[in-house]
Amino acid sequence: MSGHGKHFYVTTPIYYVNDVPHMGHAYTTIACDALARFKRLDGFDVMFLTGTDEHGQKVEKSAAAKGVDPQAFCDDVSQYFRAMGQMLNISNDDFIRTTEDRHLAAAEALWKALADNGDIYLGSYNGWYSVRDEAFFGEDELKDGENGKKIAPTGAECEWVEEPSYFFRLSAWQDRLLAFYESHPDFIMPHSRHNEIVSFVKQGLRDLSISRTTFKWGVPVPGDDAHIMYVWLDALANYISALGYPEMAAGSKYEHFWPADVHVMGKDIIRFHAVYWPAFLMSAGLPAPKRCFAHGWWMAEGQKMSKSLGNVIKPGHLVEKYGVDQTRYFMLREVPFGQDGDFSHVAMVGRMNGELANAVGNLAQRTLSMIQKNCAGVVPTFGTFTAEDEKLLGSARALLDKLRERMETQSFHLALEDILGVAFDGNRYVDEMAPWGLKKTDPARMATVLYVLAETIRHIALALLPFVPESSGKMLDQLAVAESERTFDRWGEEGALAAGVPLPVPTPIFHKYVEEEAVPNAG
Ligand code: MSP
Repeated sequence: MSGHGKHFYVTTPIYYVNDVPHMGHAYTTIACDALARFKRLDGFDVMFLTGTDEHGQKVEKSAAAKGVDPQAFCDDVSQYFRAMGQMLNISNDDFIRTTEDRHLAAAEALWKALADNGDIYLGSYNGWYSVRDEAFFGEDELKDGENGKKIAPTGAECEWVEEPSYFFRLSAWQDRLLAFYESHPDFIMPHSRHNEIVSFVKQGLRDLSISRTTFKWGVPVPGDDAHIMYVWLDALANYISALGYPEMAAGSKYEHFWPADVHVMGKDIIRFHAVYWPAFLMSAGLPAPKRCFAHGWWMAEGQKMSKSLGNVIKPGHLVEKYGVDQTRYFMLREVPFGQDGDFSHVAMVGRMNGELANAVGNLAQRTLSMIQKNCAGVVPTFGTFTAEDEKLLGSARALLDKLRERMETQSFHLALEDILGVAFDGNRYVDEMAPWGLKKTDPARMATVLYVLAETIRHIALALLPFVPESSGKMLDQLAVAESERTFDRWGEEGALAAGVPLPVPTPIFHKYVEEEAVPNAG
């Protein structure tokens, strides 16, 4: 029932199929996945959307360069993005392709809604266009390149375009956009981006060219198929076409999930999402999304990733070399979400070995092996909790509220830091309690200490489920926590482990990356 219950809608950008997936695509997708999984565990009805952006001149050119028909080209490359999702254990609820009929219907309906509102007029466009960015640029924004070429601020080469075009009256939306930003201070996150967008809009908005006539690969403009819709208008509509727009009746998916809770994207495309998209929606009489979050860019070992440098990091390479959960963990842990970051092998190994394997993995392995050896392999029976026991259990139980706050602001790195904090507390506690020494002197106390540790590990595993689902699932298997018990409803005493439940023989969960031995110097 829409309007009732808790629902949550999160989206990735839809990825251009002109190229195969790289680390940047993986990053956004992993972040959205962690958010979607977190909300599901927290009792929300979640819609998590990703997909591919298949129209426009850039894709048309890439297909032509390969000598294939654009549709066949899209069918092919789109599959790589689906496969990336499977490889990274992504839990998206839908995968939208802009060449699907359901999307064409929505894009046409959106166009008509803008036209009905009087916001579209026919004119002609004379200006610069960057195919790589699929964006128009003003003369004043460009730099002179070699041989009289004009270069966009993104570094992409621009071409001169002169053709009839439909325009969207973006200029008429300037004040309403500014009022909207002011009344929704968390619409654009991080806040530094909010300020950037506000000053961009304050400088004045020009009407936006929203159709092209010099190529064919796209959605024909309703009523004038000499024109193809501007690929960004087409693409942005994906967020509602996947909800079945224009069907908006009570009980529809649209009614249930729109407006989106958060669109996640890289900082390079915030303008399209935070300026054009709310203007289109408001013009169509639809509510704007609740938030646009722009994350930073990754470099590789200190260098910008580029095809020409040959240093583009592929998600498949990371998964193969370090593991899927290690890759997911590293990306969300290493860099504050919103800032730029650098991928380095050394940093990756530091995180996976020091944090996942040592701090979390060892805690689980030590505890579970002691239980296996000394407590007949069942959840130990506990006695009265001491102040130290209460302290550790308290820190584990307090974690969920902290995580809720972190996830509310997409602060994944802080969420992981909080979880790790509990693992550190757990390790300190084992060292202080030294349960191995209690076996002979006070077996009942040993059992209580191991119970407190097992319960702490259960909380760490539940908390890690959104981030490293496979490994934390294994941790919960080792604690004999049933699938149905793996939700935040079972947080705290509610879902506490029951004494006497048999536990499987534990095996290490997080492997360590071992550098290959240096070849001994034969000399
Ligand atoms: N098709 C558009 C989005 C349309 S959404 C309605 C698009 N696609 S893209 O495939 O080029 O880019 C997808 C995402 O990858 C963007 O959010 C971009 O910021 C991100 N990244 C590309 N390179 C990146 C890094 N090196 N690091 C992090 N993210 C990067 O834009």
